[in-house]
Parts: sequence; C-alpha cells; structure tokens
Amino acid sequence: MNEYRIAVYPGDGIGIDVIAEAVKVLRATEQAHSIKLQLTEFNWGHRYWREIGKVVPDDFLDVLKPFDAIFLGAIGDPRNLPDHITLVPLITIRQTFDQYVCLRPAVLLPGVTTPLANKKPGDIDIVVVRENSEGEYVDVGGMFKPTQADEVSLQTAVHTRKGVERILRYSFELAQTRRKHLTMATKSNAFKYGMVMWDRVLTEVAADYPDVRYDKCHIDALSMNFVRCPEVYDVVVGSNLFGDILSDLGGAIVGSLGLAPSANIRPDRKYPSLFEPVHGSAPDIAGKGIANPIAAIRSAAMMLDFLGEHEAAHSIEAAVIANLSAGLVRTPDLGGHSTTVDIGDDIASRISSTTH
Ligand code: NAI
Ligand code: MG
Repeated sequence: MNEYRIAVYPGDGIGIDVIAEAVKVLRATEQAHSIKLQLTEFNWGHRYWREIGKVVPDDFLDVLKPFDAIFLGAIGDPRNLPDHITLVPLITIRQTFDQYVCLRPAVLLPGVTTPLANKKPGDIDIVVVRENSEGEYVDVGGMFKPTQADEVSLQTAVHTRKGVERILRYSFELAQTRRKHLTMATKSNAFKYGMVMWDRVLTEVAADYPDVRYDKCHIDALSMNFVRCPEVYDVVVGSNLFGDILSDLGGAIVGSLGLAPSANIRPDRKYPSLFEPVHGSAPDIAGKGIANPIAAIRSAAMMLDFLGEHEAAHSIEAAVIANLSAGLVRTPDLGGHSTTVDIGDDIASRISSTTH
C-alpha cells in the first residue's frame, strides 16, 4: 500500500471549512483506493498568531520539508492582520521550495452555469500556468518617509532568464500533451525591460517545440478575450502577477472561484509541492458555512495525481462532476442552498459508491 505524508495547513477564514471537507473526501478516497495518507495538521495563521504572536513558527520551512506534499486552505485575516504579513509564509514556501510552476486549470464542467452567454461544457478548457518563483512577487523594494505626506515607495519586479525559460519550457511541454496551443501573457509595450525579455525568450524557446502553435497577447487584451472568446485558449502562461489575475478570471468564467483548484509544483520533487484552492479566505462569507469546498477538493485530486495516484485523483474528479451534474447539492455561489458540509458529504459518498 502506497503511503504519503501530507502537511495540512488550513489557514484562515473559509480555508478551515473547505479543508475539513477535502480531508473528508481524501479519507473516503483512501479507503476506496487502498492508499494511506498520514495527515499532519498545523494550526498556523491567525489562530497561531493569537497564541504565539507569529503567523508561523520560525522553523516552519524545516517542519514542512520532510513531507511529500503540503495541502493549504487559504491565508488571510484582514480584519486582524495586514495581508502583506499573513501572506509572507505562503510566498516564502513557494520561493524557498522553488515551486516555480503554478498550475491553475479553468474548465467549464457539466451542470455549471457560466456567466458568459452561449458557452457550454467543453467550450472552456484552459490551463493557466503562472510563474511562481519571482517576477512581481519578489521582496525587492523600499519605502522612504513612510506615512509622511511626501512618502515614496519603490517596488521592483525581477525576471530572470532562467526563471522565464523554465516556465516557458514547462508550458510548451504541457501544451504538447493537450491541444498544442500556447499563449503567453505579455505587456512589452509598457514594461520595456522585463516583458521584452519574456517576448524574446518565448521566440527562442518556441523553436524547440515546432509542433506547438504559439502566440502572445498583451495582458489587457488577453483579459478581455477570456470573457469574449475563451474557447480559443489552451495553455496560457504568464508572469507571477499576470497568472494570478488571469486565474481568478478563469475561475469566474467557469462558474465560480469556489471551483478553481491549483498546484504549486517543484517539478524535480526535491522539496514538497503545495496544493491549494485559487481563492482566498473570503472574510465576507467566513463562519457562515456556505463556502464551496469543491476548489479545495479538486486541489486534493491534483495532489494525488502529482503523487502518482492517478486513479484516486480521477475518482475525486468524477465524484465532483457527478455532484455538479446532479445539481441537487450545491452552495449559494452556484445558485444552491446547501452548506459546505453537505457538499463534502455528497462528494465523499459518491467516491465510495463509484468505486465499490
Ligand atoms: P477571496 O478569494 O477570498 O474572495 C473573493 C470573492 O470570492 C469573495 O466574494 C468570496 O466570498 C468569493 N469566494 C472565494 N472563495 C469562495 C468559495 N470557496 N465559495 C464561495 N465563494 C467564494 O479574495 P479576497 O476577498 O480578495 O481576499 C480575502 C483574503 O484572502 C485576503 O486576506 C487575501 O489576502 C487572502 N488571499 C489568500 C490567498 C491564498 O491563501 N492563497 C489567495 C487570495 C487571497
Ligand atoms: Mg490570487
């Protein structure tokens, strides 16, 4: 029996609710597929901060290193702590463990209504590949005379050839396994250093993948096209910030951010990869028991798939699709009246019944 050690970091707000349901589904999958998951939960985030005065312990990276994967809910408690403090551990994990690929599929599933007119399941099947290790999210900058009337702030993006080249190669290779079309988000008309380099490296790398059709599009036009004609896109790769923005938009056009999963991957597996829903801690609905746990449940499926448990991953996806197609048990973001717990129960029960 294959055994995996998973660090579970529910975090804040709805992160705690959706991870509880995803764990329920993982437990059902474990039984149905004869795998063993050793789940170790960490109460880091605002709960830890209340007790210890820090969001995570100082040695959190050493604590996480031995695990096979990290499963995260969401981080952020904006009423009590500024976001740029609570989010530091997540960005530190991504950068220190060099999880340079962030995969964010946006697929219109059966039984889900998109806000876009005349689109049906099959019409939207995009994977956003976000560069996850550098770009606009590096901690480079400073403040001069903070909070004064004449304050000045500098925020620098760092794009390296190594970073750009490896994410483009990953994306081309992913496109080879799909519809063989790659689109790169750019903004080289305005960012005349970083994005001009992205454009140049794209042309160079593309020469090694002659079977993949490729193009680039300025991020503003690309955002418009996600709404206007999402069916033309297959693999869409962008810098850290562009990928972040496009993946929320991707979640919205396929029906709800509550359905959008993600994987932060270290491809050579030297350090654990991290799996989490695209969404945040949603303070507006936290504590109400109505968050959609499907994004977290599908992130758990991506985790099992990455660990090599393809059948188990597939059975979670199949149970999610069965839940959505039936349309009976659904949270308010999809127009229903069910609770977070109802969805977890329904999907977990479908896993048992589809595989026995
Ligand atoms: P958010 O993603 O938490 O929420 C955006 C909107 O989508 C809200 O109206 C929310 O109710 C809705 N929503 C999100 N997830 C949902 C779900 N599962 N079911 C139903 N509706 C859902 O983004 P927001 O409001 O900008 O950020 C809230 C906090 O989360 C902030 O502290 C932010 O920094 C943090 N955040 C953390 C992330 C992470 O841990 N990876 C990612 C994004 C934001
Ligand atoms: Mg985001």
